Amino acid sequence: MGAVVVVGTHWGDEAKGKLVDILCQEADAVIRYGGGPNAGHTVQFAGTQYKFHLIPSGVLTPGVVSIMADGMVIDPWALTEEINALVAKGIDVSGLRISQNAHVILPYHRDLDMHEETARGKAKIGTTGRGVGPCYADKASRVGIRMGDIINPARLRERLEQIIPLKNAILKHVFQADAYSVDTIIKQLGTVTATLAPYICDTQALAHDLMDAGSKILFEGAQATMLDLDGGTYPFVTSSHPISGGATIGTGVPPTAITQVLGVVKAYTTRVGSGTFPTELLDERGDRIRERGHEYGTTTGRPRRCGWLDAFALTHAVRVNGLTGIHIGHLDVLAGFDEVQICTGYTRGGAALNRFPSGDVQLLDGCEPVFETLPGWDEAGVENATSYDELPNNAKAYIARVQELAGVPARFVSVGPGREQTFQLPDSPSAADIFNL
Ligand code: GDP
Ligand code: IMO
Ligand code: MG
Repeated sequence: MGAVVVVGTHWGDEAKGKLVDILCQEADAVIRYGGGPNAGHTVQFAGTQYKFHLIPSGVLTPGVVSIMADGMVIDPWALTEEINALVAKGIDVSGLRISQNAHVILPYHRDLDMHEETARGKAKIGTTGRGVGPCYADKASRVGIRMGDIINPARLRERLEQIIPLKNAILKHVFQADAYSVDTIIKQLGTVTATLAPYICDTQALAHDLMDAGSKILFEGAQATMLDLDGGTYPFVTSSHPISGGATIGTGVPPTAITQVLGVVKAYTTRVGSGTFPTELLDERGDRIRERGHEYGTTTGRPRRCGWLDAFALTHAVRVNGLTGIHIGHLDVLAGFDEVQICTGYTRGGAALNRFPSGDVQLLDGCEPVFETLPGWDEAGVENATSYDELPNNAKAYIARVQELAGVPARFVSVGPGREQTFQLPDSPSAADIFNL
């Protein structure tokens, strides 16, 4: 028994996929509760790298049920490609289950994503261009197509006949773009329906069956706290709820079932896309982090913006997610700096802020980060470490300070992308024990 949520604490790409892969070794099921092909989760083991966009990273662990739940938006062609690529690598995907309630990203969503971004001009969000925002907008407007609809031909045609004229009016008259026909979309869906149909089911019922059977469930967060539609840095956010609360809305599992919430933190902070980023380093230190950390988007290949760890934003993530522990990764990337900095707070007009100003991007714009300086650690010290104890003392002091600022215990730290480069902290519960807390 036990239901553990893994959530990103900043603007994404913290290494959620890697932590999920490690915890999955002890889990019975893994559930992606939100987002879509905007996510890019990397897992590395036995010398092979796997990149996931839609499928939960847990699919790599034999015997684990991998659920794509209600809260997701799914591009059926991208998903088919992802399934085929995994099968070609010899991965067994028979444990995959796709919610009939998850919404379908259709070609016009991708077009609208692109046209809306162009229309925003300088105020563009820097979306991943995968149609995620327009698909969630249709869900909220109740003009979406759901995964269950694509395996019900009569219903699919009926829905599309209502929806396509609305979409075409916008495409043609607002954006002077090409229109779609119902027949074309049905034909295009026909190329993937047979592959996906066996996996589509009622995943709420499945999640409840798993809970009734006392299974250990892991929730794989996508995106991250600062990208949350309500709790993040609106409007420079995604269109879903990456925070831990999203794990209940997006799956039908009640909040009372969740037993632990683990936040994934990078030893520094990154952001892709537009929006204020108070600790961003626009000098050679940011470049050094980007190159050492290979900070280029898993989904779009865009260079990620890099900066010192924003521990003030982390305190917000601790509160809104109810974090019970954190994973601090990428300590190897910061190695080699004489000194490293952590942002412990913000000032505005010379006055210190009590709380992170989430949701008010204009307030965030005028904020100055307050930094604390700590001594750096050497590269050999982290590269050769095989356990927490072997880490350089300055790296341990950094971990201790991040824990102190967060106010929650660090459970794991990591010095590289591989499974074996992630260490449990002394006196911390093991991956197996985390499900029993
Ligand atoms: P996610 O979106 O949160 O799952 O993270 P991404 O997969 O987009 O980005 C994290 C990247 O960091 C991946 O390429 C991981 O393989 C890599 N990674 C994970 N942990 C570490 C670490 O401790 N050190 C380094 N150098 N890379 C890591
Ligand atoms: P993972 O799960 C980093 C960002 C985009 C853009 C904003 C809105 O890999 O951490 P969208 O396409 O969602 O409408 O874009 O959100 N974004 C991410 N940034 N990692 C992600 O996912 C992201 N998913 C969306 O860059 O700023
Ligand atoms: Mg990512």
